[in-house]
Amino acid sequence: MKVAIIGTGNMASGLANTLAGAKHEVTLGSRDPGKASALAEKIGLGVRGGGITAAAKLAGVVILAIPFGAAADALKEAGDLAGKVLVDISNPISADYKSLLIGHTTSAAEKIQALAPKAKVVKAFNTIFAQLLPAEARQGKSLQVFVASNDEAAKAEVSALAQSIGFDALDAGPLSNSRFIEPIGEMNIHFGYFLGKGTVVAPAWVAV
Ligand SMILES: NC(=O)c1ccc[n+]([C@@H]2O[C@H](COP(=O)([O-])OP(=O)(O)OC[C@H]3O[C@@H](n4cnc5c(N)ncnc54)[C@H](OP(=O)(O)O)[C@@H]3O)[C@@H](O)[C@H]2O)c1
Repeated sequence: MKVAIIGTGNMASGLANTLAGAKHEVTLGSRDPGKASALAEKIGLGVRGGGITAAAKLAGVVILAIPFGAAADALKEAGDLAGKVLVDISNPISADYKSLLIGHTTSAAEKIQALAPKAKVVKAFNTIFAQLLPAEARQGKSLQVFVASNDEAAKAEVSALAQSIGFDALDAGPLSNSRFIEPIGEMNIHFGYFLGKGTVVAPAWVAV
């Protein structure tokens, strides 16, 4: 798949590495194009880097790997996303990581859909710590990625993307279910940072 990743931080770098390793065509986009080019060069594996507009233009799937609060600016820079799959991986949390800033009647994913009404927004990966993106860090364990969207084809595409890098994609229903998935991400952060488990844990839905 042709994937644009907006951002050059922990998630952007981990996703770019893993996705490119699985033979996806990855372009990093940053508000500082030089930073994206430098990261792309460091990763290798055919990853390219540049500005946000150029990266988004080349791709069918655009992953926003930036803080939720930066989404409006980045989407403005991304330009026309009509018909593209837009993946929201964010946890809309406070600066101290301890609480969610959005919830109950909406979610970060729904806000992003409102900002990019012609894109097909998919919520995914918000419950996976960056440290667990490299396959070797998962030590053979199959971790679940909860995937929510109002567009079934987009959901299938992002599920295939997650599966191609060794995750178990779980259909989590419509985009409005992000109201429930984002609190799970926040609970995971509490386990990872405040309850002593470290950033090597991930939630899973278990059937008996
Ligand atoms: N880290 C995790 O384990 C984890 C797990 C699940 C989900 N998430 C979510 O993934 C997203 C990224 O997290 P991260 O840990 O990778 O963050 P990070 O390492 O702090 O990187 C954030 C990136 O966002 C960019 N950015 C910030 N403001 C921007 C703006 N106004 N316009 C364009 N780009 C902007 C930064 O660019 P500059 O370098 O130019 O400042 C940087 O590349 C967040 O929404 C987070 O909630 C993170």
